[in-house]
Amino acid sequence: MTATTSAPTTDESLSALLRTGTRGEHQAAESSAFVDRLLAGDLTAAAYTDLAAQLLHVYRALEQVGDSLADDPVGSTLVFEALRRAPALEHDLAALSGADWRERPDVITPHPVTAAYTARILAGGLTGYVAHAYTRYLGDLSGGQIIARMVQRHYGIPEDALTFYRFPEIDKLKPFKDVYRARLDALTLTAEQRHAVVAESREAFRANRELFTVLGAAHLS
Ligand code: HEM
Repeated sequence: MTATTSAPTTDESLSALLRTGTRGEHQAAESSAFVDRLLAGDLTAAAYTDLAAQLLHVYRALEQVGDSLADDPVGSTLVFEALRRAPALEHDLAALSGADWRERPDVITPHPVTAAYTARILAGGLTGYVAHAYTRYLGDLSGGQIIARMVQRHYGIPEDALTFYRFPEIDKLKPFKDVYRARLDALTLTAEQRHAVVAESREAFRANRELFTVLGAAHLS
């Protein structure tokens, strides 16, 4: 009798492993009370501003790691200048909070959960970068587009304060996401590294959920 392989998922593409491996976490993040109420129009523009301000710390860390991978033959294939979000968030925060936002502790102070999230990103190395970049950027290119539409509609936030969700250098989001997934699948990673990426992506989703929980505590009545 021939022995069957013991780890069938090893042959699956990384993009498929990530999608299936984080499905539950995605559902949980998507249906968190903060996101749910934000999209329903029950909160305020200030709630969205708080989210954007916390995300700035996340993207600064992520993009710092991305920059450090510029000369890495593997990591650099997943660094796209067109995805860089920190400058867009800085622009949006000026529009949302005023030109002095950088001097305002209520805007720029990271919540402890955000500090833990950014520390995780900074400590994650190559597999950490792949996981955290996938979780945030593909999310922005997907559900992020819905968030932008809803906060614009419900809270009257102008387009110029939502450049975080706009990718002027990307012509069509859907084909770009396919390219991104193809890049994920072409990464030369060992089976252990691929599993580490999926595990870290779950942690990234959890970190986002924790952020939604603290934002919910501040903004849900
Ligand atoms: C407002 C709540 C959200 C909605 C409505 C939403 C919606 C969606 C939709 C419709 C897709 C599928 C897009 C496609 O296959 O092209 C998607 C994919 C994705 N979303 Fe979300 N999402 C939300 C929140 C989040 C959050 C909070 C994160 C993580 C921080 C996230 C991360 C992702 C990722 C990584 C994917 C790509 C999945 C894959 O194909 O591998 N999403 N989202």
